[in-house]
Amino acid sequence: MWNYLQGGKDHYQVDRDAGDAMAEANPDMFYLARQVRQFFARTVRWVAAEAGVRQFLDLGCGLPAPVDAPNTCEIAQSVHPAARIVYVDNDKVVLAHARALLTPATDLVKCAYIDSDVREIDAILAEAGRTLDLTEPVGVLMLGILGALEYDQALAVLERVTAAVPSGSYLVVEDGVDTGRVSQAGITRRHQSGVDRYELRTLDQMHGYFEGWELVEPGLVTITAWRPGAVDVGTIRPVDPHGGVARKP
Ligand SMILES: C[S@@+](CC[C@H](N)C(=O)[O-])C[C@H]1O[C@@H](n2cnc3c(N)ncnc32)[C@H](O)[C@@H]1O
Repeated sequence: MWNYLQGGKDHYQVDRDAGDAMAEANPDMFYLARQVRQFFARTVRWVAAEAGVRQFLDLGCGLPAPVDAPNTCEIAQSVHPAARIVYVDNDKVVLAHARALLTPATDLVKCAYIDSDVREIDAILAEAGRTLDLTEPVGVLMLGILGALEYDQALAVLERVTAAVPSGSYLVVEDGVDTGRVSQAGITRRHQSGVDRYELRTLDQMHGYFEGWELVEPGLVTITAWRPGAVDVGTIRPVDPHGGVARKP
């Protein structure tokens, strides 16, 4: 469904129906899904290039990006050719793509994939430690995944991640914030359609994600306001998802 919303080609009728139901609940849906990908690309590049981080843990990585957009390894390895990335997701379609892409015959050997529920975070961190050096700074990416967990579960996962990575690590989070613009009837219809639940958070709840971390400028903002690049045509406007990048002191 997310691949459909982001303009990709890897989706089935059931995904398109669920995506259209979301777009009914929030007319901004297609625009904001693409903006999430832009935010992702800007933040990963910033963490690699400006903060000098050479290894990433991408929790809830999703399917490979649409053809015109780079993935975590492409962005990180364009800055640091030896950058290492561990992808994690619990969706079997994502697993199938990972098996096809992450083969020893490709340049992606410095990347690994873990098929797991993020709530199994201790096992994930142990497995990730076979590819990443967890005594060196890590860029932890959690884009569009924490809303799939109960808030307390999300905090518990973040607490474990925070404890596991060293000072100088970075946390990138993006999640949907309830700004009152999305119709509750639309959300209910979406949940009734059988897709996984996804809870919108309050801004205060999102600030709670960054306990133990220091947000870098411009802080926790609508994703389109996070260090936007120049646009050739049109204007960028605020959307409901908020995100931020933070450093572990
Ligand atoms: C909205 S997509 C975001 C994908 C990508 N991070 C992005 O921003 O474009 C959320 C992803 O999180 C995964 N996901 C949801 N709940 C999860 C869980 N409990 N454990 C692992 N992955 C999960 C889904 O399978 C999906 O691929």
